[in-house]
Amino acid sequence: MNILLAGFPDSETTGAGEPSQAERAEVLTVPLGTNSYEIHLGPKLLPQLGHLAARCVGGRRGCVVSNRSVARLYGSQTVETLRQAGMDVTLIEVPAGERSKCLRQARRLYHQFLAAGLDRASFVVALGGGVVGDLAGFAAATYMRGIDYIQVPTTLMAQVDSSIGGKTAVNLPQGKNLIGAFHQPRMVVADTDTLRSLPRREYRNGWAEVIKHALIADADFWALLEASVGPLLNLDTACVGHAVRRSCEIKVDVVRRDEREAGLRAVLNCGHTIGHALERIAAYGHLRHGEAVAIGLAAEAHIAVSRGMMPAADASRLEALLVAFGLPVRVDAPEPTAVIAACEVDKKRLAGKTRVPLPLRIGSVTIVDDVKPDEIREAVAHISR
Ligand code: NAD
Ligand code: GLY
Repeated sequence: MNILLAGFPDSETTGAGEPSQAERAEVLTVPLGTNSYEIHLGPKLLPQLGHLAARCVGGRRGCVVSNRSVARLYGSQTVETLRQAGMDVTLIEVPAGERSKCLRQARRLYHQFLAAGLDRASFVVALGGGVVGDLAGFAAATYMRGIDYIQVPTTLMAQVDSSIGGKTAVNLPQGKNLIGAFHQPRMVVADTDTLRSLPRREYRNGWAEVIKHALIADADFWALLEASVGPLLNLDTACVGHAVRRSCEIKVDVVRRDEREAGLRAVLNCGHTIGHALERIAAYGHLRHGEAVAIGLAAEAHIAVSRGMMPAADASRLEALLVAFGLPVRVDAPEPTAVIAACEVDKKRLAGKTRVPLPLRIGSVTIVDDVKPDEIREAVAHISR
């Protein structure tokens, strides 16, 4: 069977002049009662942002938060479409990079929101990757006890993961995302054309979360990814559109069942316990988030195999797929005690127990709360070069 053709939409099947399936925007709904919102997904969406935003935010005044490189690429187009829809918007730039996800930048945003005249009826647009989305979302969640915001994700990481689900946060030196709030966006507008300007490393970075979603929930999607690495890395419109949509569907399905991570939502943290620890040890910046998650997935799969919970062959397939997408699964030997200590920060958040999602096989995951320091030590040895 040709899995690629069987699974991905064929962009050649429509008549002349009609948009192909790959070119049509799709709408997913995140059903969360009064917090429900739409995810608009597909090419050529950014010019429609003003019209879409007018449907979902109450006020007319807003700020677009971005970083310099994204603002240079898409800032004026974003401001223009919002102004054409009758909105009064100010563009604010934050420095690029994970280190911007901090309280100092959040405070800077509050001052700039005030200077721009934002009130409780105003809105924020987060234009950029996960860093801008988490930071601007956090500022929107806390400014005047919470104002509306719209996610306009421009990295693969943000389109398949961080723009969805309402987790907003900034980091502390002690750990990632330690200060944050659940605050759902009013809408997500993910224009897949913006992925074309992403640096290769950033593009590869996002695949870690797509692979994670397939690993925890969908063996068929996994097989599709395995069979389609080439077209996906070459930005084939139909293949990428399908993979982004399926990834979003998996995340939406988890979030709709457990919006505030009472239990199930923790499965989305697969690879993140050790991944976050590595990211923090690397002092936020040397390892991209997706790279840290890729290594974390390899480490946590090793724990699952050692416990006899996951077939070793599936862990090998996981590492092979991560490597095929250009992601690392090994790292220069981190100090095991530092990794264990960084994992302990997670533990403090959960009254002495770390909930670690461990894969059972491709397409299935469970959550355990008894991972021992020695298991982390052994996993660190496994991922050390
Ligand atoms: P990022 O936001 O740092 O963006 C990566 C780089 O890409 C930046 O330098 C940016 O300037 C550049 N960029 C963005 N869009 C571009 C485009 N279209 N063209 C050219 N350059 C572009 O990194 P990221 O990987 O998007 O996000 C990582 C962050 O997301 C981490 O802080 C992570 O913790 C967070 N995250 C949050 C959630 C959540 O649920 N809230 C989920 C996953 C990740
Ligand atoms: N990225 C993990 C979550 O959204 O829950």
